[in-house]
Amino acid sequence: MNEGPIQAPAEFYHPSTDFLSQVNIPDPDALRREATDDLEGYWARRAKELEWYAPWTTVLDSSNAPFFQWFVGGKTNIVLNALDRHVKTWKRNKLALIWEGENGDVRTFSYHALNREVCKFANVLKSMGIMKGDRVTIYMPRIPETVIAMLATAKIGAVHSVVYGGFSVESLHGRIEDSESKVIITADGGYMNGKTVELKKIVDEALQRTAAPENVVVVRHTGKDVNMEAGRDYWYHELMALPLTRNSLKCETEVMDAEDPLFILYTSGTTGLPKAILHTHGGYQVGVHATLTDVFDLKEEDRWWCTADPGWITGHSYIVYGPLLAGATSFMYEGAPTFPYPDRWWAMIEKYGISILYTTPTAIRGLMRFGEAWPNRHDLSSLRLLGSVGEPINPEAWKWFHKNIGKNKCPIMDTWWQTETGMFMIAPLPAMSLKPGSGSKPYPGVIADVVDEEGVPVKTGEEGFLVLKTPWPAMMRTIYKDPERYVKSYWSKYPGMYLAGDSARRDKDGYYWIIGRVDDVIKVSGYRLGTAELESAFISHPSVAEAAVIGLPHEIKGIAIHAYVILKNGYTPGEALVEELKHHIGHEMGPIAKPEKIEFVPSLPKTRSGKIMRRVLKARAQGMHEGDLSTLED
Ligand code: WTA
Repeated sequence: MNEGPIQAPAEFYHPSTDFLSQVNIPDPDALRREATDDLEGYWARRAKELEWYAPWTTVLDSSNAPFFQWFVGGKTNIVLNALDRHVKTWKRNKLALIWEGENGDVRTFSYHALNREVCKFANVLKSMGIMKGDRVTIYMPRIPETVIAMLATAKIGAVHSVVYGGFSVESLHGRIEDSESKVIITADGGYMNGKTVELKKIVDEALQRTAAPENVVVVRHTGKDVNMEAGRDYWYHELMALPLTRNSLKCETEVMDAEDPLFILYTSGTTGLPKAILHTHGGYQVGVHATLTDVFDLKEEDRWWCTADPGWITGHSYIVYGPLLAGATSFMYEGAPTFPYPDRWWAMIEKYGISILYTTPTAIRGLMRFGEAWPNRHDLSSLRLLGSVGEPINPEAWKWFHKNIGKNKCPIMDTWWQTETGMFMIAPLPAMSLKPGSGSKPYPGVIADVVDEEGVPVKTGEEGFLVLKTPWPAMMRTIYKDPERYVKSYWSKYPGMYLAGDSARRDKDGYYWIIGRVDDVIKVSGYRLGTAELESAFISHPSVAEAAVIGLPHEIKGIAIHAYVILKNGYTPGEALVEELKHHIGHEMGPIAKPEKIEFVPSLPKTRSGKIMRRVLKARAQGMHEGDLSTLED
């Protein structure tokens, strides 16, 4: 289970008295007590911060656990709270979204304007026959239309499935097919690192492998020529410009049950087919709204920037829904952090007066390597709070971020959570003292623990499996089309406990230290990839008989992919084939999945039942003791 950074010396960083005097939650322990003493009362109070068409009758229904239900009987729609309630107030004039393209284009949307675009596009979707419950695949660059498409889908009660724009043909194909989407929303392309990513071309290739969905909507963004298939493919701007009678600026928000699905989001697991994590309208909005306003101390005048991509849960919860639920102003940037120079991010923080920056350890490590001169050239004094997510942050990167970006005055909220949890689970509240590398304590109402193989809590400071012992409103409800896998993956190792798939330690102050994944998930640069999905991408190449992939520590990426490949007869190992395989993985899965290293081997260590022992490969690669190999066949 040894992977990830070394535990830091436990030194505390305390927030300043100035900072403390203005925090939303001055007494974190009191909030924690409130939630522990009366979990349902606590979440009911938080739910009342939002609007409902009709109130719930039951806060939490555990009668069919682990299929928990929240705010049962309540009627709502997340768009009621993300847009509708704001445009009725002065907030209609507030900026909801500020966007900058990699080429420097700027677009802004007030709540009024965002709502108008969402209504128009919702009407477009309706005109295409999309109805409540239908799935819509969104495969986009990081542009405002991604947000508009997600909200429009939710508004009419359909279910979005956003596929990260960095994924490629096979990943996209599998997700379109499994979701049985009726429509795909994409763009001609996106900009990344000065190059264009040709998304529509990837969609075309993916659709050759599957029974085509009825329609493809294409946003013109790069302006490059793309293939448009008559009767199937439509330009977004043309649909949006149709006569007002058909595309009115008004669109009623669909009244949803609290437990109706809002979205599915595919994430990697232990089999080749990624699992579609299902979230609902009611509980998700409550959890995301409460955690964002508490943990990031969100205020009316803040300018919030979450650097994630909408294609991952971080983007769903904290680029799209969280900030809009809170009525905040959010900044979104399309491209690479270092384009054209390594100060692009710092320049934009100064230009837009960003006050809260939420990013990843990989990004911090990547920018750190260019030195302090780049941030020092900019006035970063608008920043008041920082955040980190996606992978453990090594104390060195934490301290660099704290000193050079936060100028020693911005607390760093290290938030541990998952696609499955929907919202922050272990994260500080800003009034707390921090330890670099630790996400501190569970969010109020969350009971976490670290247990051994038998489910018994381990001693202070010892490593074990991270589990959660209470339900929370933004929790996943099931795996779409596979409820058995939901029970098996998360709730069967220890009855009554949610198994996170991470190993962790808890120190004498009750602070949690996440060590890393203990299952078949690899976190490359914070991106979640599955070994099985990667291995099947390898096997789809004609030269590969068998493949095994593992994650090994990497200075910038945190973890990088190493692959071991057995070739079919007649293929010669060598540099040319390594390059060809890397290209193949990039084409099938996407650039993020490209392995760091590929080694050709004559055999792979397996159990008697034929399961590849990745643990052994990992131990060997790191020159460590291979542990108990008694079940090993070869
Ligand atoms: C890892 C991302 C350490 C962890 C929101 C988890 C973290 C997985 C942290 C979920 C953190 C996330 N410190 N590790 N602050 N945040 N992780 O579904 O291994 O993409 O299980 O959700 O990321 O990844 P996912």
